Amino acid sequence: MGQPWNLFVEGDNLDVLPRVPGLVGRPVDLVYIDPPYNTGNDFAYHDDFRGHAAWVAMMRPRLEAAREVLAETGAIFVSIDDHEAAHLRLLMDEVYGEQNFLAQVVVNLNPKGRQLGRGSGFATSHEYLLTYARDAASTALNASTSETVDPADFPLESADGHRYRHLPLRNTNKKFNPVTARTLHFTVWGDPETGRVATVPFEGALEIGPVFGDGTPAVWRWSRPLIDQRPDDLVCRRVKGRLGERVDVFQKDWLHPIASAGTPGVRRKKLRTIWLAEEVGSTDTAVAELKDVLGHVFESPKPTGLVRRILGTMPDDALVLDFFAGSGTTGHAVALQNAADGGTRRCVSINSAEPTRAGSNARNAGLHTVADITRARLRAVAESVGGGFEELRLP
Ligand SMILES: C[S@@+](CC[C@H](N)C(=O)[O-])C[C@H]1O[C@@H](n2cnc3c(N)ncnc32)[C@H](O)[C@@H]1O
Repeated sequence: MGQPWNLFVEGDNLDVLPRVPGLVGRPVDLVYIDPPYNTGNDFAYHDDFRGHAAWVAMMRPRLEAAREVLAETGAIFVSIDDHEAAHLRLLMDEVYGEQNFLAQVVVNLNPKGRQLGRGSGFATSHEYLLTYARDAASTALNASTSETVDPADFPLESADGHRYRHLPLRNTNKKFNPVTARTLHFTVWGDPETGRVATVPFEGALEIGPVFGDGTPAVWRWSRPLIDQRPDDLVCRRVKGRLGERVDVFQKDWLHPIASAGTPGVRRKKLRTIWLAEEVGSTDTAVAELKDVLGHVFESPKPTGLVRRILGTMPDDALVLDFFAGSGTTGHAVALQNAADGGTRRCVSINSAEPTRAGSNARNAGLHTVADITRARLRAVAESVGGGFEELRLP
């Protein structure tokens, strides 16, 4: 058995963060945190401005310390709600640099909306995920996923059972035309009976030029050499257009394109900046997940699906860090993701020994601090999912 997937350190993250590289021997690739919001006891002041200022003052040195342990290619994701989103955005711009801002994702964690409680009169159903690279130019983050590719979008099937769809070989973007992309405007030859396409004439072939639906000249998306290289991925067909029937050329776009060495590649799609509860889970699913491993011992955990989607943007051997670990969702997600894709991610979770409330489910279950909750969940995850668990103690 190799190194454990999950590590836990109890303590104030401000003390622990500078020691993380020493503990794990390498820089961190991915930070995910869900800091205490400005609505709980710790930072709720009567004077709002003082509250925001106190929250920012608490966060600034911690975000700076996190930046110090991040690899040059690393990235950080921070969950935040409307109370602090604006302040956090400015603070992140300061600490990580505006040029390294990648996205402010809307996460629909409460699809029904919060119907109870005071507030603005709106049923808030989302929060945010602020995403910054340590250095946008060299980040390893790939903001795409294979999970949202819908096989139903590939309705055709080849004789050997591979799904595909037809995409026009013509570039449908009007910005590209014979003036702006001269070398992509040329004649090809195709036979709508056999489907064959070539850059030179052949028996039975018709001459085909790229044109827009209204008949104005267009350009192809593929160069001549690419067409010569991949004739089997092209097909000539008769189509009905605005100006009647014509002959056109289409690309066979495969659901599982063949990557290098003849193995099927994984098709990836850019992540949108709105993440739905049905895709990543909701606060309700998160509570149920925690209940399954430990009981209802923490008020607002995040769903593992949210963290797993974040993990999917980084290489599968990433060193992950959550220094506001709470119930240990990040470590749980890392174990689930490794188990699902064979990855070798490791996760360092940090949480302080903040006492649990007297009379709460946690306290009644013998969990006296939030750190007790974190380690109990990570231990349970190691048993049910695997990957091991180790607690590191600071000297
Ligand atoms: C919003 S919760 C995180 C919840 C977590 N994402 C989950 O899914 O369970 C924030 C956590 O940060 C912890 N915390 C607050 N200040 C801290 C500090 N200075 N050092 C370490 N942990 C801290 C709190 O104990 C709390 O558990």
